[in-house]
Amino acid sequence: MAASDASVRSAAELLAGARRVVVFSGAGVSAESGIDTFRDAGGLWERYPPDEFATAVGLVRQLVEHPERVARFLHDLLAPVARARPNPGHLALDALEQRLRALGGRLVVVTQNVDRLHQEAGSSEVLEVHGSLFEIVDDSGAHQHTLTRAELARVVDGLARAERGLFRRTRMARALSPLLGLPHPRRPLVLAHRPSVVLFGEALPERAWSEAKAQASRADVLIAVGTSGTVYPAAELPELAAAAGARVIGVGPEVGDADVWLNGAAGDVLRRLVERATALA
Ligand code: OAD
Repeated sequence: MAASDASVRSAAELLAGARRVVVFSGAGVSAESGIDTFRDAGGLWERYPPDEFATAVGLVRQLVEHPERVARFLHDLLAPVARARPNPGHLALDALEQRLRALGGRLVVVTQNVDRLHQEAGSSEVLEVHGSLFEIVDDSGAHQHTLTRAELARVVDGLARAERGLFRRTRMARALSPLLGLPHPRRPLVLAHRPSVVLFGEALPERAWSEAKAQASRADVLIAVGTSGTVYPAAELPELAAAAGARVIGVGPEVGDADVWLNGAAGDVLRRLVERATALA
């Protein structure tokens, strides 16, 4: 069911009076860019249980026992991201940032997504509280280099090719080297580097997370879009903003907790919301 005009108008009225807006986004905002969410039917965690593929301990065990499964998981995780382009939802948020700026306001996106699509759509203040697939860090967390989407696509192609033919493990390791570095012959489980993506059990990046909390506690409006709100501490953000006086607008196909909930897909709903708020100003 699509959000009614009346609910879009109520949300637009909240937004039209706001100068400090925080957007808290999750996997649903990228669904229309072709990237599966984690917990919807057929999502990534249904195919690859997170305790095996999204914890450091689980991943090391999988790498030892089933390296091909890890390569397949990485292929399935990366392939849609390597092909993805921003969708109307990402673009509407960029338009909202520009509108707020023109009025002397500010929009900050706090995203749980690791796909860099908000930045590609033009959003200039994006806090990646679960890290990024594109930012490569060493084992102390220090930045090493930034991958391009084309480089990610080459990793995906290399993994797909390594699935076929001889020397699969060696070819998979080579394909993954831009992400993980080549394994050391005597210490194959020590990664030379890795994407900055946060695994379960790991701390959120300190600077991004404290800035996200500071922004949420000063926001007039927080828009929570495309998130199941089940992964903490990130999911605290809407509660934190509301406790500090912000009004919360929720966007997504399953009704959740918010002052105004806009039912539907992020692309359509965000476009309507931003158009309406702009017309009210
Ligand atoms: P989930 O997969 O938990 O939730 C996705 C949400 O998006 C659900 O509420 C869906 O109803 C909604 N949704 C689906 N399609 C949508 C659409 N077209 N428009 C709007 N909403 C849509 O994803 P997240 O909440 O982002 O963490 O998950 C949070 C974290 O869990 C991720 O960052 C990841 C994962 O484990 C780590 O990897 C650390």
